[in-house]
Amino acid sequence: MSTLFILLFLSGCKSRDSRLEENNYNIIPAPVSLVPVPGAFSLSKSTSVIVSPLNEETSKAAAFLASMVKKSTGVELKVTEGKKARRNAVFMAIDTTKGIEAEGYLLEVKPKRITLLAPSAAGLFHGVQSLRQLLPPQVESVTGTEDITRFIVPCCVIKDEPRFRYRGMHLDVCRHIFSLEEVKKYIDILALHKMNTLHWHLTDDQGWRIEIKKYPLLTTVGSTRKETLVGHYGDKPEKYDATPYGGFFTQEEAKEIVKYASDRFINVIPEIEMPGHAVAAISSYPVFSCTGGPFQVETTWGVFPDVYCAGKDTTFAFLEEVLTEIMDIFPSPYIHIGGDECPKERWNVCPYCLKRMKEEKLADASMLQSYFIKRIEKFVVSRGRHIIGWDEILEGGIAPEATVMSWRGIDGGIEAAKLGHDVIMTPGGYMYLDYYQSREAGQPVAIGGFTPLEKVYSFEPCPKELTEEQNKHILGLQGNVWTEYIATPSHLEYMAFPRAFAIAETGWTPRLKKDFEDFLVRFKSQCPRYDIMGINYFKGDYRISNEEL
Ligand code: ACM
Ligand code: ZN
Repeated sequence: MSTLFILLFLSGCKSRDSRLEENNYNIIPAPVSLVPVPGAFSLSKSTSVIVSPLNEETSKAAAFLASMVKKSTGVELKVTEGKKARRNAVFMAIDTTKGIEAEGYLLEVKPKRITLLAPSAAGLFHGVQSLRQLLPPQVESVTGTEDITRFIVPCCVIKDEPRFRYRGMHLDVCRHIFSLEEVKKYIDILALHKMNTLHWHLTDDQGWRIEIKKYPLLTTVGSTRKETLVGHYGDKPEKYDATPYGGFFTQEEAKEIVKYASDRFINVIPEIEMPGHAVAAISSYPVFSCTGGPFQVETTWGVFPDVYCAGKDTTFAFLEEVLTEIMDIFPSPYIHIGGDECPKERWNVCPYCLKRMKEEKLADASMLQSYFIKRIEKFVVSRGRHIIGWDEILEGGIAPEATVMSWRGIDGGIEAAKLGHDVIMTPGGYMYLDYYQSREAGQPVAIGGFTPLEKVYSFEPCPKELTEEQNKHILGLQGNVWTEYIATPSHLEYMAFPRAFAIAETGWTPRLKKDFEDFLVRFKSQCPRYDIMGINYFKGDYRISNEEL
């Protein structure tokens, strides 16, 4: 009897130890400091979550943890307010005395209790994401039947804070649209990796995807294209699928996304493209173009000559009304106004635009573009927000307070930072996740390029061309997912992940702590979690050397 008991006890210990090895502190992004300690905390039905103070913001971290445990095990952890840690409890407290950055946290896992301290509710939330990654992957299950006693957390002390304050992912829903559920899943995956921004690309030539009450044609007309190019843009002869394609988000749906993201401490930055990439808009309201149209929502990819007319005051009145509704939906301090790839051929012959250039003493069309962006910036700033624009907004003179998203390499970012402007780095060669990630046969058609995981991981956002002071303008980095060639959720996930995880690590982990081999080990150990979450991440050769194949 006693021998059997000892055997059972030993085998219990063994399985527990092997589980510990499985989740051997494999957190992504790698924390600033993690000290492993022997032992483990075991969750149980009677584990409680104590929060100090418990309010609308701090309850988000607690609710996230409790809801994850409820979904996986069916067990409802008690969440209460309290000032002290207790046995068998996860104690979360706002604590501004530890000298950690706003989004940082301190996590101490002991056999009897877990303590999570942070100077902000966002920090608590990020701490919960680390705790989540220390728990077994089954915590991601939604069966409600997992055994809570198997949810053990290896003891450790983590002190952590982000390197950059902007850690973003972009999502183009214009070329192809994704459902509310998929956008939420995308947000969930970003939250797991401590990213804090979703840049939502909502308008483009091939579709206008957000309801604007004052201008209903934007969605009744502008959200649908009559068909879509089949295959790659370069394929000849061109083929189309003869199938109408469209869709849009109502304002209520967009607000649902904003709320969902904000519960996960992710800010949603809407992008309303101007003055180029406007064909869906001017197909709906041709009066805001130079020629008056008619136009149709584009069915192929690229850059198109018809853009908003910069000479008509009515164009600006329209855009201001659109932006007013957008700012009512999105509380984001930043509004992205596009600014990229605006051909000037219509402006150069348009009487309205020529008149504007003459009156405003603008030497050429690039200065007219600068006038356009500055005028829009003035409006956005008057409403207490800031603009972000792609690096073309530098041409002809940058708007006084604009933040630049450097996408044509890093030069635009360098120039902007030297001028004292804030910068988000998103250079095509590293951060465009619509590029190929593998030379292996059978890859789905992509726009081009070659950006394997290792290359994405190698990106350093602070250029050596900048001084330390100038580098303070580098707010962070972002991965972009343009969806010309990405039509389904599973394909979206295939292109975005795990490359976005590498971006998350560059955004969070200190430069000198980054190590691709170590990242790969952690990533591979987290794959069972991603599998349970149902993420269709790319599985293959992640190294740059796959280029030689
Ligand atoms: C861009 O890729 N046109 C910003
Ligand atoms: Zn014009």
